[in-house]
Amino acid sequence: MEKFVVEGGSRLEGTVKASGAKNSCLKLMAAAVMGDGPSTIGNVPDIADVRTMIEVLRYIGLEVSLAEGELTIKPVESPVLEAPYELVQRMRASVVVLGALLARFGKARVAMPGGCNIGTRQIDLHLRGLEQMGAKLGISHGYVEAEAPRLTGAHIYLDFASMGATENLLMAAALAEGRTVLDNAAKEPEVADLVGFLSKMGARIEGAGTSTIVVEGVGSLKGAEHAVIGDRIEAGTFLLAGAVTRGEVNVTGIVPGHLEMVVEKMREAGCDVEEGEDSLSVSVPGTVKGIEISTLPYPGFPTDLQPQMQVLLTTADGTSFVTENIFDNRFMVVDELNRLGADIKTKDHHAVVRGVEKLSGAPVTATDLRAGAALVLAGLIAEGVTEVYRIEHIDRGYDRFAEKLTSLGADIRRVEAS
Ligand code: EPU
Repeated sequence: MEKFVVEGGSRLEGTVKASGAKNSCLKLMAAAVMGDGPSTIGNVPDIADVRTMIEVLRYIGLEVSLAEGELTIKPVESPVLEAPYELVQRMRASVVVLGALLARFGKARVAMPGGCNIGTRQIDLHLRGLEQMGAKLGISHGYVEAEAPRLTGAHIYLDFASMGATENLLMAAALAEGRTVLDNAAKEPEVADLVGFLSKMGARIEGAGTSTIVVEGVGSLKGAEHAVIGDRIEAGTFLLAGAVTRGEVNVTGIVPGHLEMVVEKMREAGCDVEEGEDSLSVSVPGTVKGIEISTLPYPGFPTDLQPQMQVLLTTADGTSFVTENIFDNRFMVVDELNRLGADIKTKDHHAVVRGVEKLSGAPVTATDLRAGAALVLAGLIAEGVTEVYRIEHIDRGYDRFAEKLTSLGADIRRVEAS
């Protein structure tokens, strides 16, 4: 076990490059299972979740190698059509291999993901969609067992624009017989990135980035080469790190439009955000003001930046109102922020953040990836030393987080936690 020790008070300054997007890379890796030949994925972030997905693919039997941010994935003729509990409970995103394996090999067995720190996260929409495409599904001994000699296209309406369900069903539809229409599909840039990769593999898909995606199934897919898009959530985290420390931070390696709502809200709070071709930079010319935030599927404000945004609002001039609409437990970070001196009250999925003059360092514990990042950001402005425990959550999704922050002038060290 390790912890971060953060000494507050540094003003962050400089440029940092965003790594490839975790939430795209993991799905591209699953899609590579469907190719008849090897695929190469570039701009791969160096994070624990990618290493777990490599384990999932190797368990299935694929040959996977990773060198200098580039993954090569070689499919095999007779894979093991299973994602085991040990790996799925470590990383829920493993369930996206269900659609890919089922569509390509006619069968799959995937452990049902269990509880999760950020809230109830069912996979009913994934399963209902696959059933509509003709899959026979059963749940036995904690595993979803799916079978379909060949899936058939269907008109599927998602009750909620779930990223995971959209991705699982897109992969399944790519090799199904006939046309699939996915209505109320997720519009996240990571979904569009997956469609980009599948198209290179030979899939016929239209409407990525809109709420109606139409897939004309094809008989086979080939391997392809693709570079993962920049991580908008990591980029937003560094922009907010700049803003909380009242510094000047430039983040490159991204599509600025992917952060439109975040930029809008940061400007409303009093930040100056400049847009470059593949970058965004932030500075804070005056005081930060209280604002209202409501998380929503893309292009709404991302739930994955809600805890980090709350940190900015903890020291704002005035009161802010935050509504979390995606995950019911994403306010678990609030108790930890209050230990650092923040004044946040929650009721159901609403939080009222009253701006305070300053935070003061204390030991705190990360409950999930984004909560962990938020606590580090809070530590950057807290007086004295903040120790952030359970940083394995941060390592799941941030590529060299402490190193990148240090390059901007932060005082943060990784040490053994006793
Ligand atoms: N939902 C259902 N049934 C389903 C699927 C989803 O009820 O079958 C509900 C969930 O319970 C949740 C909401 O729909 O309340 C959103 O879930 P979604 O399926 O969109 O999320 P996900 O695919 O499980 C991805 C990201 C999350 C990110 C969300 C929302 C990956 C690996 N994870 O999760 O990322 O917060 O979309 O944008 O892509 C993170 O990176 O920290 C993270 C949690």
